[in-house]
Amino acid sequence: MMTTLKNIALWFERRLHLVKLYEQTAGHPVPKSTGSWFYTFGSMTLTCFVIQIVTGIFLAMAYVPSAAEAYHSLELLNYAQPLGWVMRGMHYWGSTMMVIVMMCHMTQVFLWGAYKYPRELTWLSGCVLLVLTLGLAFSGQVMRFDADAYWGVGIGAAVGGRIPVVGDAVVHLLLGGPIIGTDALSRFFSLHVFILPGSLLAFVSIHLRLVLGKGINEQPKPGVLVKRETYDQYYHGIIKREGVPFAAIINKDVVANGILLLVIVALTLFVGPKGPGIPANPPLVIPEAKPDYPFLWLFAAAALLPNGSEIWLFFVFPAIAALALFALPFLSNEGEKHWRRRPVSIAIVVLTYLGVGLLTYEAIVGPWSPHMDAWSGLPIKAEYIKGRTPVELQGALVFQNMQCRNCHAIAGEGGHRGPDLTAVATRMTNPQLVRQVIQGGGNMPAYARNLSPEETRALVAYLCSLHPPNVPPAREAVGVLKPIGESSPTPTPGGNSVTSNQ
Ligand code: HEC
Repeated sequence: MMTTLKNIALWFERRLHLVKLYEQTAGHPVPKSTGSWFYTFGSMTLTCFVIQIVTGIFLAMAYVPSAAEAYHSLELLNYAQPLGWVMRGMHYWGSTMMVIVMMCHMTQVFLWGAYKYPRELTWLSGCVLLVLTLGLAFSGQVMRFDADAYWGVGIGAAVGGRIPVVGDAVVHLLLGGPIIGTDALSRFFSLHVFILPGSLLAFVSIHLRLVLGKGINEQPKPGVLVKRETYDQYYHGIIKREGVPFAAIINKDVVANGILLLVIVALTLFVGPKGPGIPANPPLVIPEAKPDYPFLWLFAAAALLPNGSEIWLFFVFPAIAALALFALPFLSNEGEKHWRRRPVSIAIVVLTYLGVGLLTYEAIVGPWSPHMDAWSGLPIKAEYIKGRTPVELQGALVFQNMQCRNCHAIAGEGGHRGPDLTAVATRMTNPQLVRQVIQGGGNMPAYARNLSPEETRALVAYLCSLHPPNVPPAREAVGVLKPIGESSPTPTPGGNSVTSNQ
């Protein structure tokens, strides 16, 4: 019996070389100093990825990637499919945690100088993994196909469309047509379940292959400098002196990954899966659409930066950041590795986290987003309704119901994403107001499809009544004859000067 088993084992061993594989992976020697809590984030990221694959496969069995069915299939998972909501919750929190522990991993690698010689490629493949993971987080949010997802894609497409030369082609490729519908959803579905995870798997194996090949970065000592000529020998010396098999120092990884799993399960059980939120309904403008956590800071930056700086935020800044990330191991290839002797690196980390943290905080609590229900629930102050004609009062109601105040304040009450409208009639004429409401522009949604002509007329009548009693409303210059050259105090019809945002 024993010999038969042994023979079977040998048969496989001769073909698979498992002993050799073990020696080269789990058994390969690493510096003993790397058995530290700081070195556990890499394996935690991998664990998250495995959770995403397993839960993702289950979700894909029930999910229908069509604009008409997607939302419904998620509700089915939430309420009808046994454990469907657990899978959704694990997938959502797994994704959030994956981004978080990956950032921790990257920060540790950066502060420990692990990107320096000879691990440049390990760093570069890690940067690709970062991009792929963020791509998965974004495309995953689209899978929900609720209002947040819909407007997220809309904004993404608007940004993409501004890429010089190829913008329109890229957007068409992603959306599969002029509207965000099933064509767009199937494309994001292929990205989310085939292209991005497939690429991630490939790059994870490259990344791990490089980690095995070039060794895990030893705990740096202050004052010990990396030199290309001597480092390999130095590392070899460490392995000789204090090398231990990788499998012998994984106890902290096991504990850290156990805690991670507990956190994800706890968040799933106590907070639950995210959404789906309000169903995507293109004609309905949702001013409070907001992205998932990893993108909230970008959302805040986009809302807070002055109008016209989007090009900087969405193209120039990411291009510089990506270039800096990828070029890092070549810009700083040798020298000091210990963070205590690298004040600039510490400053970069602190400033980055502070910036992202503050922007995320702003995105959660800012008056322009995303919990804006309070504004539209509050009635407009009496003095801004008093003495109005019935049509104007009707307009005030439209103003309230269309949630204009989520973005616009009247008498200081309301959101600040758009200008305060307390005295808008002194700035804009009736036709300009109609145009602004119907066409939107400059980060304001177009309301043409959501308002009947009567509603638009009433709304604009109300807006025209918003001026201080002693200041007359702006009127059209048409019909008022003036000598050529004399400047008119009122804007010209068509509103090119005041409202044009193109
Ligand atoms: C998502 C936020 C948002 C919503 C919702 C919104 N707006 Fe706006 N609105 C803006 C922004 C941003 C601007 C500034 C546009 C620009 O700079 O050209 C603006 C500009 C305007 C202006 C021109 C004001 C000026 O002084 O130039 C008017 C009038 C206006 N909005 C009316 C409305 C009305 C009426 C509604 C509801 C039907 C509404 N808005 C809903 C964001 C919004």
